[in-house]
Amino acid sequence: MSYETILVETRGPVTLITLNRPKSLNALNSSVCEDLIKAFAAFEADPDQRCAIVTGSGEKAFAAGADIKEMADKPAAAFFSEDFFSRWTSHVVKATRKPWIAAVNGFALGGGCELAMMADFIIASENAKFGQPEVKLGIAPGMGGSQRLTRAIGKAKAMEMCLTGRMMDAHEAERSGLVARVVPLADLLDETLKTAEAIAAMPPLAAIGCKELVNAAFETTLDQGLLFERRVFQVLTATEDKAEGMGAFIEKRAGVFKGK
Ligand code: HXC
Repeated sequence: MSYETILVETRGPVTLITLNRPKSLNALNSSVCEDLIKAFAAFEADPDQRCAIVTGSGEKAFAAGADIKEMADKPAAAFFSEDFFSRWTSHVVKATRKPWIAAVNGFALGGGCELAMMADFIIASENAKFGQPEVKLGIAPGMGGSQRLTRAIGKAKAMEMCLTGRMMDAHEAERSGLVARVVPLADLLDETLKTAEAIAAMPPLAAIGCKELVNAAFETTLDQGLLFERRVFQVLTATEDKAEGMGAFIEKRAGVFKGK
């Protein structure tokens, strides 16, 4: 598979996707959108790949937003008829059942912050900065920022960030629940790879179940969520990996999981 704007490599069972437009701080244009959709489809289809990472090239930015130069002269009707960037929700977020992590190195602004929030969780470097500065450009978040940021950090901080466009540093982002962990920039890739490898070693169906359950907490009532949780739990007890996992525990050995 060839890509124009991203680099894709596999490290054992982990797919590493690097946004690769460093001269424009990895700004997200239509090619990035198409490339990421292709890369995620390939990741999802490959049974040997069990966890993915998205990061940015260079030390300065994960992604500084949607490409302002591409958007500047685009007519409103084109944003509407293309349903601009909507395919990430359908083709990346919803179509990817396997877990993936955003490793945020530097600026994650506008669409960059929104892409990071599409991941199952974020690991950030100490120099990471998150923001939704769209208001300064006369627009508003358009790829989930107002919705996912509010769910992640609550109304007060999300509203303040969307209205002022201010950036949040990595430690504030961790305190606020936006990121799972902050690590030194030099360790970001290694630490994220270690986490991805740990996830990749888990029984794959159980990992998919956990992901669906946590995501359901944002979509359902507590009663519906608890019912869904019990059903997923009960379904997973029928898997070969459950027999292997419990057998391995009792026999004091490491489990070998097949995703069956
Ligand atoms: C296009 C961008 C860009 C962007 C940076 N660049 N961000 N190009 N789109 N979003 C380019 C600059 O034009 C410049 O190119 C080069 O990257 C380096 O950027 P500088 O501004 O020179 O770097 P610096 O002074 O260090 O400032 C870094 C920065 C700033 C604070 C991140 O670049 C910035 O504010 N960028 C825009 C952030 C933003 O507003 N994002 C939201 C976009 S709207 P040249 O060629 O000049 O050297 C959005 C909407 C999403 O994301 C919803 C869509 C549905």
